[in-house]
Amino acid sequence: MKDKKQKFNSLQRKIKKIANSSYDKDLKLKTICKLLKDNVPYYDWVGFYFVDESKKELFLGPFEGEQTEHIKIKFGNGICGQTVEKKETFVAQDVSKEKNYLSCSIKVKSEIVVPVFKNGKIIGELDIDSHKISPFDEEDRKFLEKVCKILSKDF
Ligand code: SME
Repeated sequence: MKDKKQKFNSLQRKIKKIANSSYDKDLKLKTICKLLKDNVPYYDWVGFYFVDESKKELFLGPFEGEQTEHIKIKFGNGICGQTVEKKETFVAQDVSKEKNYLSCSIKVKSEIVVPVFKNGKIIGELDIDSHKISPFDEEDRKFLEKVCKILSKDF
């Protein structure tokens, strides 16, 4: 879909500007969460998790959307914890089909989790929940992977 590609290109330019701004890390990430949530109708919850290698867990960073009880997630648990181990983008087009899933809200129907790498190591994740089933396509994946590359230096 051409419109979607154009929208993602425009968002990517805005994200680059935010990443290059003088904002501190949390404000940059929070601003980007809001930008994504406000501009993509099926991105209903957008947040970042950071990797704590010593505790083998993820902890919640800036996010936009409803509060979540999943502040800390052990490696291997849920879509987020599995993504740390797989070290690649995890797309769950229908979370009701997932055996290893941590539910935040019954409204959430699908989820995409994109790892953030620095020097070949996973240091965090971008997590997006949607209230739609199967909303994510290759354009979403490519766009969000680029966003995570842009942000890597700020983690
Ligand atoms: N659903 C995630 C938990 C985090 S929330 O989506 C914010 C999971 O299964 O890892």
